[in-house]
Amino acid sequence: MPKTLIIYAHPNERSFCAAIKESVIQVLRERKYDFYIRDLYALQFQPVLYEDNYLQFYQNKLPEDIAAEQEYLAWAEHIIFIYPTWWNSMPAILKGYIDRVFTNGFAFRFVNDKTEGLLEGKKAHVFQTTGHSQEFIATKQLVSAMYDTTDLGIFRFTGMETLTHKFFYSVPYVDKKAREIMLGEVKDIIQII
Ligand SMILES: Cc1cc2nc3c(=O)[nH]c(=O)nc-3n(C[C@H](O)[C@H](O)[C@H](O)COP(=O)(O)O)c2cc1C
Repeated sequence: MPKTLIIYAHPNERSFCAAIKESVIQVLRERKYDFYIRDLYALQFQPVLYEDNYLQFYQNKLPEDIAAEQEYLAWAEHIIFIYPTWWNSMPAILKGYIDRVFTNGFAFRFVNDKTEGLLEGKKAHVFQTTGHSQEFIATKQLVSAMYDTTDLGIFRFTGMETLTHKFFYSVPYVDKKAREIMLGEVKDIIQII
């Protein structure tokens, strides 16, 4: 059974992201997958890379909270990220998680003049909600920009393969039926990871 890690970044349990998280967990339980969830707001994850930590970043000395997160990532084969779009990107708490946890020496390293991804073999899955409609953001290239910065700039850079990056558009404005269809899509994707 694939070892699966959920990285969840939403402050509100009544959000659509929370419903996505519950759908993912339901399938993982049904299929008896080994999984952990890191709920960044519930953990009150400290997302700012301050100077002390920044200096450690280049010396491979890690604070305890970061070492713990790296253990979860090192263990996982599939990593499922669930978050809303905030300012055409991920929420700051998740960006800060990447800043602090995906360190030089853990997520990538420099070999001569090149970088090498150290998370090779791991599979990434992203479920990202938006307020805007697909028509509104896709035509302004904001969706392709988000695919590139996340899937290429973070995941591929660190050696991971993105198997899923699913946007759910306009979620505050769609009806219950449309939401159920979306949650069905989430379950179908997780069934076959
Ligand atoms: C701080 C903030 C910034 C936002 N920026 C965007 C944005 O850039 N593009 C967008 O489509 N929606 C934006 N939204 C709307 C959210 O993406 C939307 O409400 C959310 O995806 C709905 O899903 P949820 O119920 O899981 O929160 C923003 C919302 C907040 C609170």
